[in-house]
Amino acid sequence: MSEFNTLVLYCRAGFEKECAAEISTRLSVMGIYGYPRFETGQAYVIFHCQQPGGATDAIQRLRFRDLIFTRQWFAALPLFEQLPADDRITPILASAGSLPVASELVAEVVDTTEGRELQSFARKFGSALSQALRRESILLERKRRADWRLHMLVLDGRTLWLGAAPIGNSSPWSMGILRLKFPQQAPSRSTLKLEEAWRYFIPAQRQDELLGGGLRAVDLGAAPGGWTWQLVKQNMFVIAVDNGPMSPDLMESGQVEHRREDAFTFVPPKPVDWMVCDIVDKPARVTELVLHWAENGWCRHAIFNLKLPMKQRFAETESCLGYLRDSLANAGIGFRLQARQLYHDREEITCWLSLEP
Ligand SMILES: C[S@@+](CC[C@H](N)C(=O)[O-])C[C@H]1O[C@@H](n2cnc3c(N)ncnc32)[C@H](O)[C@@H]1O
Repeated sequence: MSEFNTLVLYCRAGFEKECAAEISTRLSVMGIYGYPRFETGQAYVIFHCQQPGGATDAIQRLRFRDLIFTRQWFAALPLFEQLPADDRITPILASAGSLPVASELVAEVVDTTEGRELQSFARKFGSALSQALRRESILLERKRRADWRLHMLVLDGRTLWLGAAPIGNSSPWSMGILRLKFPQQAPSRSTLKLEEAWRYFIPAQRQDELLGGGLRAVDLGAAPGGWTWQLVKQNMFVIAVDNGPMSPDLMESGQVEHRREDAFTFVPPKPVDWMVCDIVDKPARVTELVLHWAENGWCRHAIFNLKLPMKQRFAETESCLGYLRDSLANAGIGFRLQARQLYHDREEITCWLSLEP
């Protein structure tokens, strides 16, 4: 793969500033410098690296899973602008020689109302471009595997970004979005956050071991029960802590004990496998609560949401997660911590703390 200077990063619309601050911070630690460009609400960020090949270097060395606010990324050729409407493919092929050999081309749009209107055009054009790239041997024949996937981000009928991402260091989902069907029996739409968190954080080969078979869980801030519903669906026994009412249907499962208590002072009768927490409160307070559970050995895993304030959202995330990491390390507690702004998250991020050795 040749020396690319530009990274294209997708994010939730409105979180461009956080996405830009995060990529700039992470890359500068690695000695890769540059500047981000974005407009608020456009749902993507462009990061221009100063060094030649900075983007190629970044996308291979920085772990995608260490980024919270980036849904998907790729290292890009310079922007294609003013493509002729009667033949867009020829000018693209003229500079496509520097792309790595790849197994597929994903045609994408930005996740905004305007962007989604281009979806059908992007799909059709993506299929025509794929055929042309296959003839040039840049795309392999179907079913042959390569280490790279090509991405095309269509901004309008004449403007697009084209580039590549390593399959092992990017999101497997188109536009970085895991689409889930809302289960009609679930008591709230929040249920999708926990389902997405498990699907994103827990590798497929560990799902049975970490979720299956009669485990025990505590759900802090559980009402009306969307997260508890997911825990029950995994056959877990759940203590649901909330002053608010739980869904009566869920209570009929016989697997849920409802405690009308304050989650910040609640003490579990015995340690559990999972603690989950979706309380709307200051992120620092929720972080302290999670730390308290970890220090007391009350759970093996925790999934928790940090609701972000309107301003300084990246700084707040860094401060809370940095504090949690430092406190656990100082206490000699082994852990793994991952965080991500999930597709089903709004003004919040979701974190997975694993306390297993
Ligand atoms: C976003 S809702 C949780 C939704 C839930 N995860 C679901 O899927 O249905 C937040 C809940 O936290 C509860 N809550 C807020 N502060 C609490 C506290 N100190 N102790 C217990 N519950 C609390 C609220 O009553 C509310 O039901």
